[in-house]
Amino acid sequence: MAIGTSKRISAASARAHTRRNKKTNSSNLPSGLLGTAIIVLFIGFLFGAYQAIQPPPPKICGTPGAPPITAPRIKLRDGRNLAYKEHGVPKDAAKNKIIFVHGFDSCRHDAYIAKTLSPDVVEDLGIYIVSFDRPGYGESDPDPNQTGRSLALDIEEFAAKLGLGPKFYIIGYSLGGQIVWNCLKYIPDRLAGAVLIAPAVNYWWSGLPANLSSEVFYQQKLQDQWTTRVAHYIPWLTYWWNSQRWFPASSLILQSTDLLSVQDKELMPKRADRNNHVAQVRQLGEHESVHRDLNVAFGKWEFSPLDLQNPFPTNEGSVHIWQGDDDLIVPVQVQRYIAQNLPWIHYHELQGAGHLFPHADGMSDTIVKSLLQGK
Ligand SMILES: *[C@@H]1O[C@H](CO)[C@@H](O)[C@H](O)[C@H]1NC(C)=O
Ligand SMILES: *[C@@H]1O[C@H](CO)[C@@H](O)[C@H](O)[C@H]1NC(C)=O
Repeated sequence: MAIGTSKRISAASARAHTRRNKKTNSSNLPSGLLGTAIIVLFIGFLFGAYQAIQPPPPKICGTPGAPPITAPRIKLRDGRNLAYKEHGVPKDAAKNKIIFVHGFDSCRHDAYIAKTLSPDVVEDLGIYIVSFDRPGYGESDPDPNQTGRSLALDIEEFAAKLGLGPKFYIIGYSLGGQIVWNCLKYIPDRLAGAVLIAPAVNYWWSGLPANLSSEVFYQQKLQDQWTTRVAHYIPWLTYWWNSQRWFPASSLILQSTDLLSVQDKELMPKRADRNNHVAQVRQLGEHESVHRDLNVAFGKWEFSPLDLQNPFPTNEGSVHIWQGDDDLIVPVQVQRYIAQNLPWIHYHELQGAGHLFPHADGMSDTIVKSLLQGK
């Protein structure tokens, strides 16, 4: 045994010795070239990868080669401008002033509530509504530092500079409804009342039971599960994820019709006016508009709606959520849970309604009257 072992050792070391010799003898020059080639390829790969994840610079309205400014705009504290559009009675004659916050992939022209209110309701209640292009959309400047809090402060400053007085109402639709949570958190003293219409949810809000978050998370299409995961965990990859063509990305950005309910499909013709302005929506760049929206909506929040206190403890105003029970974009289960846990919310669930119910006949009148008259 002893002999056999020593034989094996010596044989192995002999082979190792031979190999070492071969390497040092024969591969000096080729390994140098190969190494250089690998380094060059690697740098090229890094550069390509860097370019692929790096969004192009935004177009700023009014600068050379960028779209023109056609709407009135308000300049904010840091020099950014917000473009807006007024609806209803003149501001100075108004009894009720409302700011409308548009949803994902939309702009100031998508102020559905304002556009479908009946003239009688507008006159009787003296309603003025202003909609604005959220930062990065339409003719507003982008905000690379955008957060939920900055959006609320933008709205506060916009209202002050527009002269809306100490308090105003706020109505947000879809992702704009989610932004109303930020207003309730950061600028409650400025609000006369608030409406969240089918407000988008964040699956990572604290206080949501884990079984509920995972149930609604996995109800999403696979591509949207990945899009929201990327926005939450690796937001610096959101541009690449939604620009690459190997896997389908956000079905909202791709404007898939799979997310339309039966009622939504019936209501689609009422959105035909979008053809007049849809080109404006993402004109500053997809990253400034829809990608940044995803990162703020599904990113890490500083608070959860479930932690909010009643902004109107003496009933001087009211907060409403309107939600369809057949909404395939925003899960009704989460709104129910929030409404159960925040008893000061007036929760209105609509049977058979999808995500586009504000377009249904008479819906805007109902929503606005319940806000302004407590009906
Ligand atoms: C974004 O934040 C950075 C760092 O705070 C600041 O230098 C920059 O001016 C901000 N950009 C805008 C457009 O506000
Ligand atoms: C989550 O778990 C709780 C407690 O077990 C249960 O009452 C609730 O119905 C569950 N919710 C869902 C959406 O499964």
